[in-house]
Amino acid sequence: WGPRPLAGRRAVVTAGPTREALDPVRYLSNRSSGKMGYAVAAAAAAAGAEVVLVSGPVALAPPPGVRRVEVTSAAEMLDAVLAEVAGADLFIATAAVADYRPAVSADRKIKKDSERMELVLERNPDILATVAALPERPFCVGFAAETHDVIGYARGKLEAKGLDLVAANAVGEGQGFDRDDNTLTVLWPGGERALGSGSKRELARALMDIICERLHARD
Ligand code: PMT
Repeated sequence: WGPRPLAGRRAVVTAGPTREALDPVRYLSNRSSGKMGYAVAAAAAAAGAEVVLVSGPVALAPPPGVRRVEVTSAAEMLDAVLAEVAGADLFIATAAVADYRPAVSADRKIKKDSERMELVLERNPDILATVAALPERPFCVGFAAETHDVIGYARGKLEAKGLDLVAANAVGEGQGFDRDDNTLTVLWPGGERALGSGSKRELARALMDIICERLHARD
């Protein structure tokens, strides 16, 4: 294929963290900066795709030519993704979606009137698994963020969610979240390729090359 291998294709990318409200002024979240997801959206646009970036709260400007839909919680991210994904060719889930949300979000600021407080959390919907289970689904790419046995857990996610591709990164002290660089290994049913370490921009482009190969192999 030519220099714009995704010309005429629509891609939906998620990025950033989600915030799960405890009360009007507090939330549960994580350290995702959105840098990896924004680099992925930019790489998809550079490959010629029409890109929608569904983004949690981050301090980044949308890449040129990319339409951004801003969301806060996992529930909002799911709604926005489902509204955008119909007819898309590619779905790339780079967001660090909160797995749980407070069972109750107080409508007034919670007061510190006891020494101990317990939080009850409920599972959030899995956005990637929901999209992968759609009857007419796009090519589905997940990220796997793990602190140990990265490749083992990543292959488990590829199989459990029935994905086309997973990009695995080690996260933790000085790795993965909120940095300009990352280390990725890409896995698909029957194969894998280590992309090594580099800037998120470079890695997103290398990932997009593999996505294009696999997408065109499937067509
Ligand atoms: O944003 P940065 O600071 O640049 O950091 C980048 C990153 C480390 C956040 C990114 O590279 C990354 O790994 N993103 C996925 C993080 C994650 O939540 O991984 P997971 O192993 O918990 O989830 C597996 C996959 O399911 C991911 O594609 C995730 O987007 C998706 N998921 C998870 C839970 C959920 N409720 N819905 C989902 O769609």
